[in-house]
Amino acid sequence: MLRKYKDTYPKVAKSVYVDESAVLVGDIEIEEESSIWPLVAARGDVNYIRIGKRSNVQDGSVLHLSRPSKQHPDGFPLIIGDDVTVGHKVMLHGCTLGNRILVGMGAIVMDGVIVEDDVIIGAGSLVPPNKRLVSGYLYVGSPAKQARPLTEDERAFLSISAQNYVELKNDYL
Ligand SMILES: CC(C)(COP(=O)(O)OP(=O)(O)OC[C@H]1O[C@@H](n2cnc3c(N)ncnc32)[C@H](O)[C@@H]1OP(=O)(O)O)[C@@H](O)C(=O)NCCC(=O)NCCS
Repeated sequence: MLRKYKDTYPKVAKSVYVDESAVLVGDIEIEEESSIWPLVAARGDVNYIRIGKRSNVQDGSVLHLSRPSKQHPDGFPLIIGDDVTVGHKVMLHGCTLGNRILVGMGAIVMDGVIVEDDVIIGAGSLVPPNKRLVSGYLYVGSPAKQARPLTEDERAFLSISAQNYVELKNDYL
């Protein structure tokens, strides 16, 4: 369901799959081959949401952002790069994710967080505001801490996971 906020509708590329039970509101743009799964709620009202290519946002995840303020004149938009896997029931709020990232099920990522390319965030982790997660590492826990470098297999899996979801969404389409 794509809904308008003021005069702005979500813009979704042709090859994107949006499940009919998901709700996308307002200033949201999603690039080619990405997918939005059942019961995702994404609200681009007081700022914007951008999702790159071949990324997937899985069931029950919530995407929101923070409005501009005196302290933060741009507020905190939500930006997701390419080949990102967002697991089930994840909360992404006003953060910036790079490319080839896996956000484990149930994780919470807060305002101002920057996740560099090639990172895994373990299931159930909480990433507090304004933290930077460095490229090439696994982070786990609440608050999330750097656990260890990713293995070669895990790095390879980041793109495989995204590609698996491209194929799955093609079936649904
Ligand atoms: C963190 C993760 C990548 C496993 O990493 P790993 O290094 O192979 O971890 P292991 O299974 O060897 O466990 C190592 C330790 O970390 C703990 N651990 C595992 N996953 C954890 C998590 N998400 N948060 C906190 N601790 C975790 C284990 O209990 C174990 O602790 P112990 O040494 O005290 O027994 C995995 O558990 C995970 O969270 N993957 C995300 C999967 C997901 O959500 N995918 C999206 C859905 S499609």
